[in-house]
Amino acid sequence: MSFASPEQRGAFIAGIPKAELHLHIEGSLEPEMMFALAQRNAIDIPFASAEEVRKAYAFSNLQDFLDIYYQGMNVLRTEQDFYDLTTAYFRRIHADNAIHAEIFFDPQGHTERGVAFSTAIDGILRAMDDAQSDLNISSQLIMCFLRHLSEEDALATLEEATPYLDRISGVGLDSSELGHPPSKFAKVFAKAKALGLKAVAHAGEEGPPDYVWEALDILKIERMDHGNRSLEDPRLVQRLQDNQMTLTVCPLSNLSLCVVDNLKDHPLKKMLDLGLHATINSDDPSYFGGYLNDNYEATASALNLDKDDIIALAKNSFRGSFLDEETIAQSLRHIDDYVARFDG
Ligand code: HPA
Ligand code: ZN
Repeated sequence: MSFASPEQRGAFIAGIPKAELHLHIEGSLEPEMMFALAQRNAIDIPFASAEEVRKAYAFSNLQDFLDIYYQGMNVLRTEQDFYDLTTAYFRRIHADNAIHAEIFFDPQGHTERGVAFSTAIDGILRAMDDAQSDLNISSQLIMCFLRHLSEEDALATLEEATPYLDRISGVGLDSSELGHPPSKFAKVFAKAKALGLKAVAHAGEEGPPDYVWEALDILKIERMDHGNRSLEDPRLVQRLQDNQMTLTVCPLSNLSLCVVDNLKDHPLKKMLDLGLHATINSDDPSYFGGYLNDNYEATASALNLDKDDIIALAKNSFRGSFLDEETIAQSLRHIDDYVARFDG
């Protein structure tokens, strides 16, 4: 069913219960917080104002963004910094009616510059606990390996995570995709899976369909991050359909990083029409110009998504989550109740 007006569509998107499955917590560092933390930690940053920081966020590809992203996280030094960062994110998505989030963090982005693994994860976990009790938002944590670093480095990071394995749901793979295929991380993913962790990986954002195949066949992922370029390979589309593989798609990220030139050319609607389990996510909201509902709204407007599309996207966000079956079923009922109330 289509919406009577853009306002009605906006209201429907704003209120529908949803989950976020692709969010790098370091990518939610807003320029204002960057300044506040730089001051708190007596760190020089090469910008005079938050506006100047925002102006620097014009990217022509993934690497362009990553250079600024790693520079930005340099202000994160203490457990409290990680707590404040993560709490700000939860408060923001609470306003978007998100009720669950599966959050990535990049421990190597911190340990590489002398910040302890425990400093980062303790702050993030404390904020996750508080989001559950204060905002009723559930969350899980996914530890990403930086693919531009070596597999040995990833193995050492997995080792460092040992005391926290009961609080980490899975491992992921992010950073510079081209030249760093999933197969480079075969051993560390096998080890993580043997430890009972779930596996996800970024693939097909800039990289070819071959990288998506490798993520499926070699890393044995449970969920695909991005996956846009899968559509270039009909056999791969068939495989994703057969496996009911969830794709965590990030439209405003794709636009910012020139994965698509225009949101009107975004493959999300095509994915849904092919029966792929696509979801909408914000990736790095402070860098890409929008949180969860901004992504839904911009995509719905550009691709003329109807009510059934929005419902499918929100439902996919729970079906593709690592929540238990009962909680997923309950969340789907919340959506059905919401739709009935909205229509009534
Ligand atoms: N792609 C790859 N690595 C990343 C991203 C992304 O969009 N964001 C943070 N690390
Ligand atoms: Zn990402």
